[in-house]
Amino acid sequence: MAEVERFSVSMAPGLLKSFDAYRKRRGYRTRSEGIRDALRRELVEAEWQASGREVVGTVTLIYDHETRELTRVLTDIQHHHHGTVVCTTHVHLDGHNCLEVVVLKGPARQIQSIADRLIAARGVKHGRLVCTSTGKRLA
Ligand code: NI
Repeated sequence: MAEVERFSVSMAPGLLKSFDAYRKRRGYRTRSEGIRDALRRELVEAEWQASGREVVGTVTLIYDHETRELTRVLTDIQHHHHGTVVCTTHVHLDGHNCLEVVVLKGPARQIQSIADRLIAARGVKHGRLVCTSTGKRLA
């Protein structure tokens, strides 16, 4: 960290006690580290809620590649949104199951919509969108 500014925070003793227990469980050595990460999570969440902001999301999918039409459907959705899909990684987990991670960059609403369609495709066993940031607004 190049430069830091200090400020004091006031809070009820009960809240501080809960925060200290939380940050110790999570492995933060200091209150500052814990507060910085909590604040960044909040800022990323706010980016996702602000319409039009460019954000980044990763969609993780688990599916059986032998499910009829599924690989074609997943590929079609990604081609349709080629401007938003940054890349895709595919891992053949075993004889049947595949892991696919799709990295998306664009407006939050669009990423959420693409993720919903990928996850809802018939035959996807598990799917999850992780909402993150381009990092431009995070220090
Ligand atoms: Ni595969």
